[in-house]
Amino acid sequence: MSEDNVGDNLAAATSEASLAASQRRSLKIEADLVAHPERWRVLTGDRPTGELHIGHYFGSLANRVRLQNLGVETWVLSADYQVITDRDGVGPIRERVYSAVANYLACGIDPERAVIFTHSAIPALNQLLLPFLSLVTDAELKRNPTVKAEHEATGGRPMSGLLLTYPVHQAADILFCKAHLVPVGKDQLPHLEQARVIARRFDERYGRSTPDTPVFPQPEALLSEAMNILGTDGTKMSKSKGNTIEIGMDADATARLIKKAVTDSDRHISYDPARRPEVSNLLLLAALTTGGDPEAIAEGIGDGGGGALKAYVTEAVNTFFAPIRARRAELLADPGYLEQVLAAGNAKANVVAEATLDEVRTAMRMKY
Ligand code: TRP
Repeated sequence: MSEDNVGDNLAAATSEASLAASQRRSLKIEADLVAHPERWRVLTGDRPTGELHIGHYFGSLANRVRLQNLGVETWVLSADYQVITDRDGVGPIRERVYSAVANYLACGIDPERAVIFTHSAIPALNQLLLPFLSLVTDAELKRNPTVKAEHEATGGRPMSGLLLTYPVHQAADILFCKAHLVPVGKDQLPHLEQARVIARRFDERYGRSTPDTPVFPQPEALLSEAMNILGTDGTKMSKSKGNTIEIGMDADATARLIKKAVTDSDRHISYDPARRPEVSNLLLLAALTTGGDPEAIAEGIGDGGGGALKAYVTEAVNTFFAPIRARRAELLADPGYLEQVLAAGNAKANVVAEATLDEVRTAMRMKY
C-alpha cells in the first residue's frame, strides 16, 4: 500500500464494510479469549478529563473486568498526556487520575493482576513517539476522521501539534507493551489502524532487533457493542450538561438527577428506543443494573408513568452501585494505598517500556 492512501484507509476503517469485518473478527477473538486467555494482552485507556460515569462503566469498565477475570493480561492507562490535546490547561489532573484509579479498583480491576499506569511516568513510552512520527505523513494525520471530529468540536480553536499527532502517541501506548488487543468503540478504529500501520512500517523501514520477529506485533481491535447510554435528558452524557450519573456520585445525588430526568407525556411506559429515546434510556439503565429485560420492566411499570419509572431506575442504579461506591469511598480515604498502586503499575510499565525501547534502538542501530 502506498503511503498516500493510508489516510484513506484510516477513514475507511470506519466505513460500513470494514466495520462489519471488524465485528466479525471481534466475535472470533471473543471465542479465543475464552479458550486461550493466556495468549492475549489487552491494553485500554481513558483520558482523565472528568469523572468516570455509568456510561463508561457499562461501555468499557465492566468489559475490562470481565477480560481480566477470564485470565487475560490487562493493562489500563490513565492517558494524562492526552488531556492536553484539545484544551489549554490540565485541570485538577492529579485528583482525576487518583479518582480514576479508585474507580478501576472499586469496579473490580485487580492491581495484582492488571497494570494501571500513566503516560507521564513512562519516559521510554514517550520516546517511541520520535521514531513513530518518522513513519507517518502530515497528510495522513490530517485525514484522521476522529482527530477531525475532535478538532471541530473545539469550535474554531487552532489545531495543536499534539492534537494532530496524538494518534501516533496512542500507537506508542499500544505498541510499547506489545498489546495484541485493544477494546474500542468505533471512534477509536482509525487510531488502531494507525498503530497497525506504524508497527508494519517500523519493520519495513528500520528492521528488527532479532531476525525472526518484528519488534511490534499487529494489534487488533475488540469492537465493543455500541452500548449507548444517554444522559438523564436523553442526549449524550456530558458533564457540562449536568446529565451524567457518575460512578462516584452518592445515592441522593443520583436520585435527584434521575428525578429531573426527561420523559414524555405518554403515561404508559414502553420500550421503544427510536420513538421514546428518553424513556427507553431509563429502561435500559434499569435493565443493565438489575440484569433484567427492558421490555419486561416496561410492562411491569405499565401505566405507572414517569414517576414510577424513575423510582424503579433510582432504586436499581443505587442498589447496583452501592458496593462499588462503598469500596470507592474506602479507597479514597486511603490515598497512600492508591499512590502505591499507581507507583507499582508505573514501575512495571517502565520495565516493559525500557525493554521495548532497547529493541527499537537495537533495530535502529542506535545502541551506543
Ligand atoms: N483515546 C482514548 C479515548 O479518548 C483514550 C486512550 C489513550 C486509549 N490511549 C489509548 C484507548 C490506548 C485505547 C488505547 O477514549
